[in-house]
Amino acid sequence: PRPILLTRHGESRDNVRGRIGGDTVLSDAGELYAKKLSNFVEKRLKSERAASIWTSTLQRTILTASHIGGGFPKIQWRALDEIYAGVCDGMTYEEIKKNMPEEYEARKKDKLRYRYPRGESYLDVIQRLEPVIIELERQRAPVVVISHQAVLRALYAYFADRPLKEIPHIEIPLHTIIEIQMGVTGVQEKRYKLMD
Ligand code: F6P
Repeated sequence: PRPILLTRHGESRDNVRGRIGGDTVLSDAGELYAKKLSNFVEKRLKSERAASIWTSTLQRTILTASHIGGGFPKIQWRALDEIYAGVCDGMTYEEIKKNMPEEYEARKKDKLRYRYPRGESYLDVIQRLEPVIIELERQRAPVVVISHQAVLRALYAYFADRPLKEIPHIEIPLHTIIEIQMGVTGVQEKRYKLMD
């Protein structure tokens, strides 16, 4: 069996400010995670020559992968970019609640189907992940996927066989690696919390 390692990027400056979306760099804590992750990955995949590291096209995932050596190819996928919040990109949840209360309520009511104005819904994200999933299924070697909260909820749900309606509520903590092993007997999962 070969592992798929799923992780969010290290904490970003926008995470610290509570802003959604955006394309900021890492906080100091996020930078520390990037270093710890590189140690972990280099050890875990030491004899795995064909392994690869997949990120989104956003800085925070590319920076999180930046310390990983070992010669593993790094591949950027636009399909791994975070859910796009359209006109709400860069806002805090508080700001959305205050300035666009109908949007806030609509999302609360049906987070799976709710589409941000000029942005995406969870269903949109799930759909655009299809080619990534096909490619992940095809890989024979381990893959490290460094992406974002909403995207990882969808990917995780696919491998862990969780129902569609749960996807927007699955907990995917920062600074934690979720290792998924696909074997003949089914899927096994381990979590490694590298820091708080
Ligand atoms: O706050 C981090 C973040 O990745 C945002 O960029 C994104 O909009 C959000 O999480 C997705 O989570 P939720 O669907 O719970 O708002």
